[in-house]
Amino acid sequence: MPPPPYFHHSPCQVLALKPDTGEYVWHFQQVPGEDWDYTATQHMILADLTIDGRPRKVIMQAPKNGFFYVLDRATGEFISGTAYAKVTWAEGLDPKTGRPIVKPEALYSTTGKPQLIYPGPGGAHNWHPMSYNPRTGYVYIPSLEAAFGYVAHDPKTFQKRPGVFWSFGIDPVGAAMPEDEATRKAIRAGSKGRLIAWDPVQKKAAWNVEYPVAWNGGLLSTEGGLLFQGTGQGRFVAYDAKDGKKLWDFHAQTGIIAAPVTYEVDGEQYVTVLAGWGGAIPLVVGELALDAAKGGTNRILTFKLGAKGELPPMRTVVRKLAPPQATAAKEVVDKGRAHYQQYCAACHGDTAAAGGIVPDLRYSATLGDAGAWKAITLEGAMLKNGMVTFEKYLKPDEVEQIRAYVIQRAHDEKKRLETATK
Ligand code: HEC
Repeated sequence: MPPPPYFHHSPCQVLALKPDTGEYVWHFQQVPGEDWDYTATQHMILADLTIDGRPRKVIMQAPKNGFFYVLDRATGEFISGTAYAKVTWAEGLDPKTGRPIVKPEALYSTTGKPQLIYPGPGGAHNWHPMSYNPRTGYVYIPSLEAAFGYVAHDPKTFQKRPGVFWSFGIDPVGAAMPEDEATRKAIRAGSKGRLIAWDPVQKKAAWNVEYPVAWNGGLLSTEGGLLFQGTGQGRFVAYDAKDGKKLWDFHAQTGIIAAPVTYEVDGEQYVTVLAGWGGAIPLVVGELALDAAKGGTNRILTFKLGAKGELPPMRTVVRKLAPPQATAAKEVVDKGRAHYQQYCAACHGDTAAAGGIVPDLRYSATLGDAGAWKAITLEGAMLKNGMVTFEKYLKPDEVEQIRAYVIQRAHDEKKRLETATK
């Protein structure tokens, strides 16, 4: 049975063209008919490696799908492909062709059955730059480990609305994080970040460092054998590139997702990083960023040996969780949930838990003020701050249903804070 007609699959290919003319040279398809938002758009690194005693000019990539690819860059020939992260959608790759051996149950859009799959749409590696160090021979991958519950949208109720809302063919309510706190806790615990030192010749990790937050910074490795990375928890760390030993650690007061750079001025070497929290994962799957360093000051930080600078004291923001009483009936809250997931989750976070970029609505003072809520969502009262208006898509009673839902979620959060730490 083919997947429903609204499904759009990413071509998921590496394509070689002649830069002067655009002439096609070769292509290598990683995932034919992919179903999970796996793309081959992660950056690529060129290297000269000795593989099976033969010098090879290769192109290397750690795309979202969780397999590390080594291809011959002149011909596109598949040399190797090995899982560098937790992968549950495929058994592995065919060693000759590099084609994935897809598990039949992973094809949720064809079977119609929901599936929890690693990696999720964020991939096992996203846009954060990886780094190859010819001295150690390792490729350093800022990897993430987060599953996603893929649920195909029922073709009978699916509406394609290109350019306005996400029309992925994924059911926005069915695929949401469950609201039961025990399940959420398990999902949070199963979501991690990992710095991987990958050996592309031995096809295995030489060492790795685990982080509690999945979303961390890109990498810089140096001729001198150092490896720098910022973390979602707001540390800027230098490792020994050979064995992963931590050598130095700086508290940046905010989560870091960018990659550092190094340069020399008048004979002195500097390392600079843009420290700041943001990006797709915290925006959408807010709660997986629960332990991230959020709300800090974004800064450009520069370091050199022997420098004595210090950051000003950290700014702390105290947020008050004081929702009005939850008085709405269950069916109102349920309707509000459906609208919230369709219209609000992409910015304010899945199931009303924000990841530290736009306001967390559970904490909003407007929760207790139907007039202000309506002015913001339907009349553009905060348009200048980037809060879009929904007058074309939602009616006043529907935004009231959303408010009832967020009030319910604020009470759930209050209970969680009273009983648990994570
Ligand atoms: C495209 C992104 C985006 C979407 C989608 C979105 N918002 Fe917002 N929203 C924002 C931004 C940005 C702000 C305010 C930023 C600021 O002032 O710092 C905001 C602010 C708000 C505030 C004020 C919060 C406060 O206490 O300051 C409310 C209420 C709100 N949004 C409700 C909603 C509702 C309800 C939906 C869904 C119907 C929604 N938003 C969808 C981006 C979005």
